Amino acid sequence: MGIQEITLDRLDPAGFIAQKSRELSAAVGEGFAVNALSGGVDSSVVTALGHKALGSRLKTYFIDNGIMRKDEPAQIAAQFRSIGIPIEIVDAKDRFFAALKGLSDPEEKREAITQTFYKDVFGELVKRSKARILLQGTIFTDVEETVAGVKRQHNILSQLGIDTVEQFGYEVVEPLIELRKPGVRKVGEALGLPLDMYNRPPFPGPALAARVIGEVTPARVALVREATAIVEEELAGSGAFQYLAILHEDRVTGIRDGKRDYGSQIEVRCWESKDAKTAAPTRLDYDILQKIAARMTSEVPGVVSVTYNITSKPTSTIEAV
Ligand code: XMP
Repeated sequence: MGIQEITLDRLDPAGFIAQKSRELSAAVGEGFAVNALSGGVDSSVVTALGHKALGSRLKTYFIDNGIMRKDEPAQIAAQFRSIGIPIEIVDAKDRFFAALKGLSDPEEKREAITQTFYKDVFGELVKRSKARILLQGTIFTDVEETVAGVKRQHNILSQLGIDTVEQFGYEVVEPLIELRKPGVRKVGEALGLPLDMYNRPPFPGPALAARVIGEVTPARVALVREATAIVEEELAGSGAFQYLAILHEDRVTGIRDGKRDYGSQIEVRCWESKDAKTAAPTRLDYDILQKIAARMTSEVPGVVSVTYNITSKPTSTIEAV
């Protein structure tokens, strides 16, 4: 696919940072670049790398797309400001929900998010800031899975034949594209980021929309957001690679207060993995699973049933969409 992976044993983080800084600085020249911070490991590392290389020539936005986790936009922006990196939050909730309205096919939902992000929201921001370059934290695994046809990763463009200059009016530069996640974490550490910024569990580009089966509405996102907060609280100490909650499309018959309650189903997934390419379900303690189920059914409105995924990747994928 034309991109050579830098494996962990061949990665010299300091040398990598120096080389990428030189390349970024040369690409941007006297102009400006922009990037979007989502708070995920890849976008956090690219934000720190970009600011080291470009300083005030890089403007970082947090796009509030309405599908992030609880309090995420404000928390992430505050964290970055505290290490001296200014972040502007852009409220784009209505535009994303309008684009997702009526869609239930997974690839159509991913495509709607991609178009809204790159064309509508970023197209405008780039024009406004007079930037020519969008810096992005695409990694090797994103390219590999998209090219293999597993899943269209939200941030993959040129590998799918998309000419960003022609379609969106800016060039995309991807300094982390030769690395997998463990390599990205090493670079984050060498950049001096706090541990919890480069070591947090992965979170997908399409955010909670990757965890809502069927239509992505504000109400359904609110439900999966509550469920996600419970899973993250209960499994924070599990040491697992990633853990998440999925909202199913089908509703099921339940009982509440002695009466029929036709409610929602949440599926919990918890994964052991090195690089997200393959993964196996964590053998969680039954007591933890039961506590999660009890909290979901009492704290998340309308949930009557909770299941735990016992399938590996493959055949499953880590997210549901
Ligand atoms: P899947 O669901 O494909 O996920 O097994 C593999 C890993 O990638 C994350 N993921 C994404 N990350 N953009 C991203 O940056 C995306 O569109 C995307 N989809 C999935 C997922 O959370 C897991 O760690």
